[in-house]
Amino acid sequence: MKGTFIAFEGGDGSGKDTQLARVKERLAGNPNVTFVREPGGTSTGEELRRLLLNMQMCPKSQILLFLAARAQLLYEVIIPALTAGKHVIANRFGLSTVAYQIYGNQQHDLLPFLQEATRFVVGDWQPDHYVFFDLAPEIALGRVKGREGKLDVFEQETIDYHVRALRGYHAHLHDFGRAHVIDGSPSIESVSTEVDRVMRELLPQLHL
Ligand code: TYD
Repeated sequence: MKGTFIAFEGGDGSGKDTQLARVKERLAGNPNVTFVREPGGTSTGEELRRLLLNMQMCPKSQILLFLAARAQLLYEVIIPALTAGKHVIANRFGLSTVAYQIYGNQQHDLLPFLQEATRFVVGDWQPDHYVFFDLAPEIALGRVKGREGKLDVFEQETIDYHVRALRGYHAHLHDFGRAHVIDGSPSIESVSTEVDRVMRELLPQLHL
């Protein structure tokens, strides 16, 4: 039987990565769960990630390269894992492209192309569930800017860009799989309790 496919989504600094790290820790060594990240997760995808996060590109190039990384990840990792009955938990998937490349970049005329190309690349392999971390960019970006290290292309974008991306998330949250919205504003511990509750509901067979 096919495994369950879950994608974690949210803006930069929404708490998604912290919570995913906790879920990963709890499931460490479980052979029935595969974790992937986007863009990346394959040799080709990691090369594309390096380009996408470091180079200023035109909106169309961004869409095509995110989709190329996604195609490779589906082909090499996600489809084989799901087919083998494993569950897949992805750090980002198609909703990110709608939020960032269409809404963030203000390219609404490219939405029909993205939808068509998504049918071509993803087909029936859409996540069964999206777990979305909802947090105002005013707070989320403050967290990002407080971190060590160089900011990537998307983290360097304006607050307006991230406000638009959040609007994109809200507008398209229910386009693909079932969406579970998690308020990202409480403490890490409170958010974690809520994430555990949702994950227990989505993957009851893992006895989380
Ligand atoms: P990453 O460092 O993984 O960010 P985060 O930890 O917030 O997930 O970088 C991924 C960046 O790529 C992130 O800023 C969002 C962006 N992105 C897109 O713009 N479109 C996409 O389709 C995907 C998958 C990511």
